[in-house]
Amino acid sequence: MKITRMTSCTDIEFRQIEVLVGVLSSSCKANRDVIDEVLAKEDSHLFVARDADGRIVGMTTMCCFTIPTGRHATIEDVVVLPECQGMGLGRKLVQYALQYLKDSGLSYKVGLTSKPTRIAANALYRSMGFKPKETNVYTLDVAGV
Ligand SMILES: CC(C)(COP(=O)(O)OP(=O)(O)OC[C@H]1O[C@@H](n2cnc3c(N)ncnc32)[C@H](O)[C@@H]1OP(=O)(O)O)[C@@H](O)C(=O)NCCC(=O)NCCS
Repeated sequence: MKITRMTSCTDIEFRQIEVLVGVLSSSCKANRDVIDEVLAKEDSHLFVARDADGRIVGMTTMCCFTIPTGRHATIEDVVVLPECQGMGLGRKLVQYALQYLKDSGLSYKVGLTSKPTRIAANALYRSMGFKPKETNVYTLDVAGV
């Protein structure tokens, strides 16, 4: 398995990402424009894991931002194809993202969220040293006009 930061996306690769988005959530659909935007943005990073044939079998996204309290990174959408789970790939993807930050030479506070029902994901993050934080998470959908 090889992990890299994705910088461009063919139609075949997009379809592989579509499958992974479906594994993440049955209510989400991958959108080509959104994937292209992720790839184009300097502070958004899409890391993909490929098998020996080059097929994308796992991915994660990391977004970096700087606010008055410091540099932050948030890791989102960690997912591995069901047939490739349990082989250490999820851990390697998160490790790769963290190493990417370390290689920048800058310090970051890294955050992520995961529903309590995501047993594997919560176990993975805790085993990597992430600590639960007492806070309220709010979301709001804002539509462009
Ligand atoms: C979460 C996910 C990415 C983990 O990927 P993975 O490649 O299967 O995980 P790994 O093999 O690297 O396992 C790493 C650790 O995760 C935990 N873990 C993995 N599978 C687990 C399971 N079925 N039950 C409990 N813990 C599990 C273990 O702590 C494991 O460490 P260990 O092998 O030393 O015990 C994968 O299960 C997945 O894609 N799930 C569906 C999507 C999802 O929930 N994403 C998270 C969104 S927040």
